[in-house]
Amino acid sequence: MPSRVAVLASGRGSNLQAIIEHFDNISRERIAKVVLVASNRADSPALIRAATASIDIAHFDAADDGTQLLETLQRFRVDMVVLAGYLKRIPPKVVQEYSSRILNIHPALLPDFGGEGMYGARVHEAVIASGKRESGVTVHVVNDEYDRGPIVAQWRVPVEPGDTADMLAARILSVEHVVYPRVIEMVAILLNVESKISV
Ligand code: GRF
Repeated sequence: MPSRVAVLASGRGSNLQAIIEHFDNISRERIAKVVLVASNRADSPALIRAATASIDIAHFDAADDGTQLLETLQRFRVDMVVLAGYLKRIPPKVVQEYSSRILNIHPALLPDFGGEGMYGARVHEAVIASGKRESGVTVHVVNDEYDRGPIVAQWRVPVEPGDTADMLAARILSVEHVVYPRVIEMVAILLNVESKISV
C-alpha cells in the first residue's frame, strides 16, 4: 500500500507541485500518494494547485492546540506529513502522534540560518550578509523546536558573487524541487518496510 501523505502548505506551493508531479508516475504511485493538502490559510495558492490535481483540501486554525489538525489527518488515514512552505509550529500533540513521520524543508544548511522567524528572504539575506560561499537545502524531521529536528538530507548550493536574496532563493528553490520529492520517496519506502515488519 502506498504511504498516504498530507502536505501542509501556506504559500505559493511550488514544492507541493513538484511532490505531486513526482508521485504521479507509474513506478512511484505504489510508494506514496498525496491524499490531502491542508493549510491554515484559506487563500493559499497551494490549495488551488491541490484542487487542480483533484487532491482533497482542508483548512485548519493554526491557533488551535492541534486537535483539529490531528482529527483531519486521522480522518484521511494519513501516514506521513510533509511541510512545504508551512510557517507555523506543529502542535506537540501532532508531533507526538506522528513522531518521526513529519518532514520539513528549509532553504539553507541547518543548523545555520534556521529557527523561529528565519524564513523566506530573511534566510537568504542572512546567508549573503555572512559572506558564506555556499548555502543549500535541508530536509529534517519535525520536532517541537523550529528547524531543529534530526537532519535527513542536505544538498549544497553555491552563493555566487553579486547574488541578491532573490537570485539565491531561486537557485535553491530549483534544487528543493529535485531533492524534496526524492527524500519523501525514500522515507515512504522505509515506512512501508517498517509497517510490513510490524504486521
Ligand atoms: C521553500 O523555500 C521552503 O524551503 C520553505 O518555504 C518555501 C516554500 O516555497 N520552507 P513553495 O511554497 O513550495 O514555493
